[in-house]
Amino acid sequence: ANIYGEQRRNSRGVNLADHLVVEPLGDAMDTAAGQHWHAAPIIGGKSLKGEGDPILNPADRRQQVGRVTWTTPEQADEAITMASRAAAEWSATTAEERATCLDRMADLMESHMAELMALCVREAGKGVPDAVAEVREAVDFCRYYAQRARLDFGTPMPLPGPTGEKNEIALHGRGVFVCISPWNFPLAIFTGQVTAALAAGNTVVAKPAEQTSLIGTRAAELLLEAGIPPEALQLLPGGGDIGGRLVADERINGVAFTGSVATARRINQTLSQRQGPIIPLIAETGGQNAMIADSTALPEQLVRDVLISSFQSAGQRCSALRVLYLQEDVADHVLHMLNGAMQELTVGDPAWLATDVGPVIDPEARDGLMRHVEAMKRSARLVGETPLGPDTEHGTFVAPVAFEINGIDDLDDEHFGPILHVVRYKAGELDRVVDAINNTRYGLTLGVHSRIDAVAERVAQRARVGNLYVNRNQIGAVVGVQPFGGEGLSGTGPKAGGPRYLHRFATERAVTVDT
Ligand code: SER
Repeated sequence: ANIYGEQRRNSRGVNLADHLVVEPLGDAMDTAAGQHWHAAPIIGGKSLKGEGDPILNPADRRQQVGRVTWTTPEQADEAITMASRAAAEWSATTAEERATCLDRMADLMESHMAELMALCVREAGKGVPDAVAEVREAVDFCRYYAQRARLDFGTPMPLPGPTGEKNEIALHGRGVFVCISPWNFPLAIFTGQVTAALAAGNTVVAKPAEQTSLIGTRAAELLLEAGIPPEALQLLPGGGDIGGRLVADERINGVAFTGSVATARRINQTLSQRQGPIIPLIAETGGQNAMIADSTALPEQLVRDVLISSFQSAGQRCSALRVLYLQEDVADHVLHMLNGAMQELTVGDPAWLATDVGPVIDPEARDGLMRHVEAMKRSARLVGETPLGPDTEHGTFVAPVAFEINGIDDLDDEHFGPILHVVRYKAGELDRVVDAINNTRYGLTLGVHSRIDAVAERVAQRARVGNLYVNRNQIGAVVGVQPFGGEGLSGTGPKAGGPRYLHRFATERAVTVDT
């Protein structure tokens, strides 16, 4: 229960099996998709639209979804100036005022569900169920961080002291936070980072991923509509050049970043070389996520959870399964079933409900994945491949594929798409398998399929991962239920959607009064 004695609830789902729900939703999504979308910098509440560049639909690159006007270096500087000037005033607002804006944002996103879903499908290539989940997660982040702000930032915590002395400690905003978000959760992670920073009392300069500037722009507009003052939130569509400029600026007080390890390292380096205060970097990066399935796993359940974990969202989740460790006694049987199931997946337009696997985000992503597939075809055994559907030739599609390899250390890095690798292991090798997984130095998600409790307990105790899932799929962490984030190369913590996330966006101040 929250401080008002109310239970916080996660947002409601959409029944995609009910045509009375789906038909009006589909019509509303089509109408929304037909609008003239334009992403542009929003500085001090003003949208600075120029002619802009086209944004193409990854499922069919002949279709233009909208246009984007990129941020200039001068505009990026101006945005930081404005956010710095507004920092003291925003930090002086009460947690209740800030939380109320977040609750309004949650309501606004729910009332704009069809439009936000349409953008997720068209700009990011998300399937319809994924688009529903995306909006729900963004809504959940708002309500969860609103609740955490009320609980942890509402009143100072009293501390003991001698008679005649009053001591208390309180959390305050740090100043200006730069939020750099990824294209794979263009609404949820954008909203999660920005609302966390705002709820903790920071002003924000937000840079959405280049590929999903329209969704980022729409979310920023809704935040302003929800009552966030225009000086407190600046939106800057742009690429690495703008991101690099923002994190090098001495006037910023923290960075929240989700994306690749390489970029996180570059940000870390820039922050360490800057003059001025030492500031936090909250980074969520990649994974080389594994699942371990022993001979007691239920094959039907296992195969279903492998398909979901590896291929849903075209494998473009940081949580997605990349390496399946199968006990050799059952490996042939499970791989036979997996191959059969992979034949049945439908690869195609994500706007269709019958589609299982949509496109990857852009040609660069597709080409990188296809290079890995070609290399695997030369060096590894193919154990399953989904045929590409019709009408995929104009989009950036990669068909789900699975290869058998010798060990997780055969892989050079994370391959962010629908590519599964399978490794056989022998009974008695459980610790060796967990150690091999730990040795990647990533530590995001890990799945275990076993009917023996001691196996799951052993893995939970030995594996250095942030999110462990037993006898289920390993994607789709729910806000406040499975706080999400890894360790090692996978991120700094604290976990998004967890009770301590906002604390890292804040600074602590102790006040002592001689009474
Ligand atoms: N939060 C997402 C998930 O759990 C991460 O990529 O799937």
